Amino acid sequence: KENMQITIDGPASAGKSTIAKLIAKKLQYIYCDTGAMYRSATYVALKNKVRLDDDAALAQMLGQMTIRFQPGETEQRVFVNDEEVTDVIRTPEIANNVSVVAAQPSVREILTAQQRKIAAQGGIVMDGRDIGTAVLPHAQVKIFLIASVHERAVRRYKENVAKGINTPLATLEQEIAARDQKDSTRKISPLTKAKDAIEVDTTSMGIEEVVAKVMAIVKEKE
Ligand code: C5P
Repeated sequence: KENMQITIDGPASAGKSTIAKLIAKKLQYIYCDTGAMYRSATYVALKNKVRLDDDAALAQMLGQMTIRFQPGETEQRVFVNDEEVTDVIRTPEIANNVSVVAAQPSVREILTAQQRKIAAQGGIVMDGRDIGTAVLPHAQVKIFLIASVHERAVRRYKENVAKGINTPLATLEQEIAARDQKDSTRKISPLTKAKDAIEVDTTSMGIEEVVAKVMAIVKEKE
C-alpha cells in the first residue's frame, strides 16, 4: 500500500521522534513532529507574555503565527513565521510549561487541524500523544512507544550533556514523570494507547532494533 499513515505515540522521551524520522526516511514519507508544534505555541506564548492557560488568548495568538517545518542537514528545522525555533523549543523551560498549553481546547483544535492538513499531503509518519487516538484515527499503522521512566531520563540526560545542559538525573526523572502525569490526565485527547496500536517497549532496545521492529509491523500492513 502506498502513502500509508503511521502514527507513533507515547510518553515523553521514549524515542518517538528518533524512530519516526528514521522510518520516514526509509519509506520516503513526510515526518511531522507534533510535539514541536505545541512547543512552538508555548515558546511564543512565553515570549509574548500570553497566559499559558488562557485558551482564547492562545487561540488568537495561533491565528497570527505559522509553524513551518523545513528539512535541515541533520534534523528537521522548525520555524515560527520567519524565526527559527528549532533549538529554543527544546529547553527545559519549554518542556516544563508545554503541558499546560497543550491542555487548552482551542489550542488542540487548531493544531489538530493543521496536523491533518500536513497528513493529507501524502505518506506520513506523525509522532505525538494523540495521533492514533484523535488526529489520525484511521491510520493503517499505530505504534505506542514506551520505556521505563529511568531509561527515558538516562537518554535525556545523555542528550542534555551533549548540549551542555546539566540537569541531575533525578530531576529529569521527576520532570518526565510529571509531564506524563499531566499529559495522561488532561480532559481532551489525553495520552493513551489506541485500541488498535501496537505497544513497543524500548527500555532495553537499541535504535536500530526499534526501527527494524517498526518496519516489520509496517511491512505486514503493506
Ligand atoms: O513530543 P514532545 O515531548 O516534544 O511533546 C511536548 C509536549 O507537547 C507534550 O508533553 C504534550 O504536552 C504536548 N503534545 C500533545 N499532543 C501531541 C504532541 C505533544 O499534547 N500530539
